[in-house]
Amino acid sequence: NNGIRISDQGFLNTAAITSKITFIDGDKGFLMHRGYPIEQLAEKSDFLETAYLLIFGSLPDKDQDTTWRYEVMHHTALAEDAMKVIGSLRYDSHPMSVFISAFSAMAAFAPEANPALQGRDLYQKNKDILNKNIIRIIGKAGTVAAAAMRVRMNRPFIAPKSNYSYCENILYMMDAVANGEDYKPDPRLVKALDILFILHADHEMNCSTATMTHVGSSLVDPYSAVAAAAAALYGPLHGGANEAVIRMCEKIGSVENVPSFLEKVKRKEELLFGFGHRVYRNTDPRSNIIKKVTESVFEACGREPLIDVATALRDAALKDPWFVERKLYPNVDFWSGLCYRAMGFPLDFFPVLFAVPRVAGWLAHWKQNLDQGNGKIWRPRQLYIGEQKRDYVGREERE
Ligand code: SDX
Repeated sequence: NNGIRISDQGFLNTAAITSKITFIDGDKGFLMHRGYPIEQLAEKSDFLETAYLLIFGSLPDKDQDTTWRYEVMHHTALAEDAMKVIGSLRYDSHPMSVFISAFSAMAAFAPEANPALQGRDLYQKNKDILNKNIIRIIGKAGTVAAAAMRVRMNRPFIAPKSNYSYCENILYMMDAVANGEDYKPDPRLVKALDILFILHADHEMNCSTATMTHVGSSLVDPYSAVAAAAAALYGPLHGGANEAVIRMCEKIGSVENVPSFLEKVKRKEELLFGFGHRVYRNTDPRSNIIKKVTESVFEACGREPLIDVATALRDAALKDPWFVERKLYPNVDFWSGLCYRAMGFPLDFFPVLFAVPRVAGWLAHWKQNLDQGNGKIWRPRQLYIGEQKRDYVGREERE
């Protein structure tokens, strides 16, 4: 804005700003992955198929689909060494810390996936290695989430079942001890979790995806890059917002307290978590779909009373000029926490349920950056607005 023009080529060279994966129209509240509107994917696809679409660019044909599902579901087990690292963490560790530690540990135990050891063009040269590690990371992400839950519950790990679907397996591993070895999760909850995973799988160049692509551009192994991206997602302004929404609603306590809370937000004393978005200046299309998912989850698990406070917050904010003029609408995190709470997940576990599906988006952008063949490290430039050039002055002469 201060009249300094970055040459177009200069800008293009410093930022991988082109992508074929996700398109968002923030003004229209429109989102599509590889050309498919999010509403159609949420209704007709499932998470593993959407993950394939994001990563490989098209919906899998029958054989590709069968192979993809088989491969992912046969790479869900975690190495003994990784389990030991996870098991060494205290029961009250934040599940996102467990998730980040697990992927850092997996990096240590996967030298064959490490370009630092195998040569910097490992992933350009060998597409099999690239696809194999994509499959492993997606397969294991759900198991890491379940392991984080076992740490929290101070209970033994449960091995995944390769004949269960992806989301069914996650629910199974989290709760099988309470329900016995042959526990079959409620199909309504499996479906709900699968839709939530589709909605969280990718969202263009958000903070954590930018981190994955940025870190991945140095040609580090993908496990370390996933750990870095998960650290970015952990923050309450990003993937931690679903947890923050529930804490906010608990603090408000009742519908009667909503008006005074919103006054505090306007005085900047509080933040309305689950509202606002850097790109959407209209409603986040994912939020509308998740609101519907709450109904099926409540039917299966019982109604989460905090939805009354959340609904009152939403209704009041959408009518209040202060929020309207700032184009603040519910985002993906506003209702998702209510689903997870009704499903019985611990509050600080919600960001992990964001991270697991977002691994697909992270990998899609990581692979795209490698495929673009530039293999160039991301090195954004800044507009320098500091002091002009000046000479050093000795301590005695400084006033
Ligand atoms: C996710 O990037 C992605 O795509 C992210 C994500 C994904 O799928 O990856 O969609 C997932 O992270 C969703 C966002 C989850 N975070 C939250 O719900 C936290 C609450 N939201 C805010 O922190 C905020 O809205 C952000 C961080 C999401 C966006 O912040 P911006 O773009 O910096 O907002 P802004 O500066 O354009 O805000 C404009 C005005 C400001 O007020 P004024 O200075 O004009 O008076 O709106 C205010 C802001 O203070 N504002 C809010 C607000 N969000 C913006 N005021 C109160 N509550 C809010 N939530």
